[in-house]
Amino acid sequence: MSLANIAYSPVLTWANPLLTNLEFQSLIPLFGEHPVEMGMVGREEEILAMLGNDRLYPQMFAAAFGNSTPPISPQNSGNSVANLLRNPVSPAAASVITISNLTKALAAFQRSLISFDSPYDRYRYRGETNAISAAAKRGEILFNSENLECFHCHSGLNFTDSIQHDRLAFQEIAFHNTGLYNLDDQGAYPPNNPGLYEITENPADMGKFKVPSLRNIALTAPYMHDGSVATLEEAIEHYGAGGRTITTGKYAGVGRDNPLKSSFINGFSLSPQEKQDLLAFLNSLTDETFLTNPAFSDPH
Ligand code: HEC
Repeated sequence: MSLANIAYSPVLTWANPLLTNLEFQSLIPLFGEHPVEMGMVGREEEILAMLGNDRLYPQMFAAAFGNSTPPISPQNSGNSVANLLRNPVSPAAASVITISNLTKALAAFQRSLISFDSPYDRYRYRGETNAISAAAKRGEILFNSENLECFHCHSGLNFTDSIQHDRLAFQEIAFHNTGLYNLDDQGAYPPNNPGLYEITENPADMGKFKVPSLRNIALTAPYMHDGSVATLEEAIEHYGAGGRTITTGKYAGVGRDNPLKSSFINGFSLSPQEKQDLLAFLNSLTDETFLTNPAFSDPH
């Protein structure tokens, strides 16, 4: 899942309502054992030593987190970059390289990944009437229509109904089943990926996932929580059919008949022109400013 605008997400990853904090989340890929992702468990000292021996990170950590130990004398208490350059990093400064500060640094970086400069943003929010094509404008109308229903779930500034920001009285968190699978005519999803059910064990939560943002969606194939949809055309066909049909193999089943799917997934038919229009709209969500922002590149 893309990290663009992750700061606005009150809940992280695809289907875990308990995972609400980026600092904590980063521990899972680093140290998680079910499944093993980066496999760093037991190698904490090694990670910290690697960062401590890096050309840039010791200064950057000291600048961000200050010298925590030993107590600092008043004239030396500033932690500006200029001050650090005057006072090269001491062993004490290296002590700010901790797993806790590492997770804070990762989280702060991720919160800076802000994407609001797509042609669609310029058209919709900044009055640039010609920033997107006529086809994309027609596609926007389709996206927001009661026939296609996309906007009910991919709603608001981040095209998702799980959202947090200062102008909301409370966080909005939602999970939906889109009829991607139906293994047993009771709505079963593949056992290794049952969605919200994995956490809640409530049978009604089978196949429910967080609505992913559609920002920069043209660039992030393959799609869905398991990457099982190869293209945007295929994603539109899945919704058009009111749920995906898989004809052979162990995941065969008619998603359209999934009894647990959302009432907004009813199917629709589009002319070839309308399909192109919807694709043009989805393509207008690509933010080149975000994609090429040097602030997001490796500092080395
Ligand atoms: C009932 C809520 C709902 C509706 C309506 C809906 N979506 Fe989705 N959408 C989701 C959820 C939930 C997922 C993730 C599903 C999964 O992975 O199992 C998703 C995934 C997607 C993805 C893949 C995103 C990615 O990063 O992998 C695309 C593209 C998409 N939707 C487009 C659309 C379009 C276009 C429409 C309208 C035709 C639409 N959606 C209608 C809830 C919805």
